[in-house]
Amino acid sequence: MKMRKRMMTLTLAAMMGLSLAACGGGGSTSDDAGAKDSGESSSASSDVANKDKPLVWFNRQPSNSSTGELDMAALSFNDNTYYVGFDANQGAELQGTMIKEYIEANIDTLDRNGDGVIGYVLAIGDIGHNDSIARTRGVRKALGTGVDKDGEINSEPVGTNTDGSAKAVQDGEIEVGGKKYVVRELASQEMKNSAGATWDAATAGNAIGTWSSSFGEEIDVIASNNDGMGMSMFNAWSKDQKVPTFGYDANSDAVAAIAEGYGGTISQHADVQAYLTLRVLRNALDGADVDTGIGTEDDAGNVLSDDVYVYREEERSYYALNVAVTADNYEDFTDSTKVYEPVSSQLDEGAHASKKVWLNIYNASDNFLSSTYQPLLQNYDKLLNLDVDYIGGDGQTESNITNRLGNPGEYDAFAINMVKTDNAASYTSLLSQ
Ligand code: BGC
Repeated sequence: MKMRKRMMTLTLAAMMGLSLAACGGGGSTSDDAGAKDSGESSSASSDVANKDKPLVWFNRQPSNSSTGELDMAALSFNDNTYYVGFDANQGAELQGTMIKEYIEANIDTLDRNGDGVIGYVLAIGDIGHNDSIARTRGVRKALGTGVDKDGEINSEPVGTNTDGSAKAVQDGEIEVGGKKYVVRELASQEMKNSAGATWDAATAGNAIGTWSSSFGEEIDVIASNNDGMGMSMFNAWSKDQKVPTFGYDANSDAVAAIAEGYGGTISQHADVQAYLTLRVLRNALDGADVDTGIGTEDDAGNVLSDDVYVYREEERSYYALNVAVTADNYEDFTDSTKVYEPVSSQLDEGAHASKKVWLNIYNASDNFLSSTYQPLLQNYDKLLNLDVDYIGGDGQTESNITNRLGNPGEYDAFAINMVKTDNAASYTSLLSQ
């Protein structure tokens, strides 16, 4: 099959009068990367210029990593360009509230050394990623530890702050049953490994080792920007210590761990996001209204209700809504890779012919993307008759991925998950050539 694909590529390129070298990259094609679906019957639309093909950004919204300002040039690259993610502020607020409510409900046993200070440590994913920033702010806001910086809650890591002297946070206060407790962010750190990969679970596991050996008895709660890092800390230390850890993503392993003392997590409705990611491409390829199968029922009966997503037209962005997952409801969330029932009907192949999509995951070892998001995409691609090539990046450099977009002419549509939110042009420039 490899052979056949390559020949098809060459024939197409020749037909289009393109030289492969002129398409940039020059690296390997997607044949060697990640899981991939077969689908011999797919067509690539040789008559559409790459710059006019449907494009969806997902999980990392094109934006300035320092200011968070959206990159509208990338978000409106062509008429069929969209972003799919989730509502970061709504989710962050939920995470903060979930932790605060847990503290209030368990105050009698939570303050492990009885010093009247509820100490927590915070694992930060990527200081330049708007989802990560929102979650750090959400926790600090709910626990009263945030300080203002330019009109927003400061989201910088503090390093170690066992004495409460850090400037990027302050001591908060919580009152339960007439008794006041101090809440202190004892430590926080961006979990980036030496090669540059962010949201790095192994780094978080090491960090809790270091923190617990110097001030372990002061740690009453662990908060993490995601479950990958949260579970690493849980397994390394907090499970045995019975210290609740709170994450984000509702990966299956984290949901299962709630039965063993993991404090809770947030579902970012990846089942809805993965659907939307492919659905907006499907609609554009069909020449259908973008709302088809989203707010408007499609010919197979697929439709989403407006309590699971919002669309902000001025941002060209779809945002799934989040749900808190705790000991009260975790049994409803045990399989994070299950398709969302209201959008699980197979499209008819006669009316929606198979099309080829190039899709990358910024880091093949990112827990959420590899254990939850990609399996979901692989379930939906079949339902939507999309033949998707999945490219797994190294999480460090954009070129590791763009090198494998050597021949965009081979594809009908593109789905992109950047390493860094500032780097949209690394991709759009390849599509504009
Ligand atoms: C997820 C993280 C993931 C990150 C990657 C976030 O939305 O919650 O788990 O590592 O995306 O970009």
